[in-house]
Amino acid sequence: MLADCEAQLSERTLEALIALVRQYTGIAMNERKSVLLQGRLGPRLRALAIPSYEQYMALVRAGGAEVQVFIDMVTTNDTLFFRTPAVWDYIERDFLPHWDAARCLRIWSAAAATGEEAYSLAMLCEQFLQRHPGFRYQIVGTDISATALEAARAGQYEGRSVERFQASHPQLLARYCRRSGTRITVNPELKQHVQFGSHNLLRKLDAAPFDLVMLRNVLIYFDETNQRQVLEQVQRQMAPGARLVLGEQESITRLGTALQYQQAHIYHRDAA
Ligand SMILES: C[S@@+](CC[C@H](N)C(=O)[O-])C[C@H]1O[C@@H](n2cnc3c(N)ncnc32)[C@H](O)[C@@H]1O
Repeated sequence: MLADCEAQLSERTLEALIALVRQYTGIAMNERKSVLLQGRLGPRLRALAIPSYEQYMALVRAGGAEVQVFIDMVTTNDTLFFRTPAVWDYIERDFLPHWDAARCLRIWSAAAATGEEAYSLAMLCEQFLQRHPGFRYQIVGTDISATALEAARAGQYEGRSVERFQASHPQLLARYCRRSGTRITVNPELKQHVQFGSHNLLRKLDAAPFDLVMLRNVLIYFDETNQRQVLEQVQRQMAPGARLVLGEQESITRLGTALQYQQAHIYHRDAA
């Protein structure tokens, strides 16, 4: 009977599943995601011996621990160290050199996934610190996925993430990570500056304003209504003059926000 789970994902059930994904994550899926949803949720139904998607959705709607498991399964947590080189060139060669080193720099890695972005930021801040003793910085990484955050806090990486990091920034890897076979672990000197926490971008974040916000490769998952809502929340968290960094496929120009376009992927809030 359980092997029939896939067959039971009728058009109506798929619609209900898509609505459930949107309710808990804000993510907009369409019917083309049917295979993806079945691939991710099917094994869970089998593990719980739940015979239908309708019953599984009832379990999620009941609001217990399964809600977080569901969120973890429907989110895509792909990321890399120093993803999109142009962005890192900007931070290293433009943003940091213009930063008043007497001020504490606050950075938000929003939709941090497994943490590589937050640690990449910490490495560049450490380099800046070497040239400006006394410089202080704080990095906050947030995500809606508990499993991604667990990996981020552990700061241990293997596979493609490490291979790409080794190829692009071998010196930073050697300087700020400990290697054990094929696995690397981020050093405590970086970890002490990086704090990870659970947060849904559609909601208000309870934190002091940030000077730099990384909001990359997450707006693409939302429809325009939710993109606007996320940006509203993000703008509230930006200090005057703060920079917002988006992913390569993302633009907010058509959403008509108060943020100014600066250069590819980068927007800023007025300084006043
Ligand atoms: C593709 S990853 C992007 C990771 C990183 N920002 C990057 O660009 O490499 C997208 C992340 O957005 C997170 N996400 C999806 N919906 C979210 C929401 N409503 N609130 C917070 N995070 C969300 C997912 O859990 C996932 O880790």
